[in-house]
Amino acid sequence: MKFFVDTAEVDEIRELNALGLLDGVTTNPSLIMKSGRDIMEATREICAIVDGPVSAEVTAVDFDGMMGEAEILSKIADNICIKVPLTFDGLKACKALTSAGHKVNVTLCFSANQALLAAKAGATFISPFIGRLDDMAIDGMEVIAEIRKIYDNYGYATEILAASIRTVNHVKEAALIGADVATVPPATLRALVKHPLTDKGLDAFLADWQKTGQRIG
Ligand code: E4P
Repeated sequence: MKFFVDTAEVDEIRELNALGLLDGVTTNPSLIMKSGRDIMEATREICAIVDGPVSAEVTAVDFDGMMGEAEILSKIADNICIKVPLTFDGLKACKALTSAGHKVNVTLCFSANQALLAAKAGATFISPFIGRLDDMAIDGMEVIAEIRKIYDNYGYATEILAASIRTVNHVKEAALIGADVATVPPATLRALVKHPLTDKGLDAFLADWQKTGQRIG
């Protein structure tokens, strides 16, 4: 499973990338707002840190506007992935952009039928939003499973990018179902390493080691 980090915080991205954990980055207008940064500057810096795809989202809602913004965003770096919303204009832009050789992430997906449309439009990634579905008492993980089944039935190459991840269990469940990518907030990504028995076991090993009076090297 590939890990993308879901943030526009450049320092966080630099640290996580140094751990060898990152295969890409996703941003959205809300994350840019939270970072307080200029979208062009922050995205350029992020693209220079991470080798994999960096999703930058258009904010126009009509086809022509999306294509104009996509042209500007795509010039930031070779690893830009244009993010478009799951609307008819977004799907039309997806088709045009992927046909021209760009990577496209179709975002704001909440159903298997929407994901089917995105695959037919040639999307590189489809982003089903698990957490926001769970918030409405709809099982987000079931939507991921349905998309996996449909894409496998027809051999669609579109990668399932599990988004709106809130917990470490979301990551595990998406991996078990076979999502290709999880885009994970930094804190949740760091929490994946945590287990109380690991900490307890390490403390016990270090205490016993001290009793030996030995040193390695
Ligand atoms: C990523 O591409 C999505 O925009 C993001 O995961 C949405 O997460 P949220 O529902 O926590 O805002």
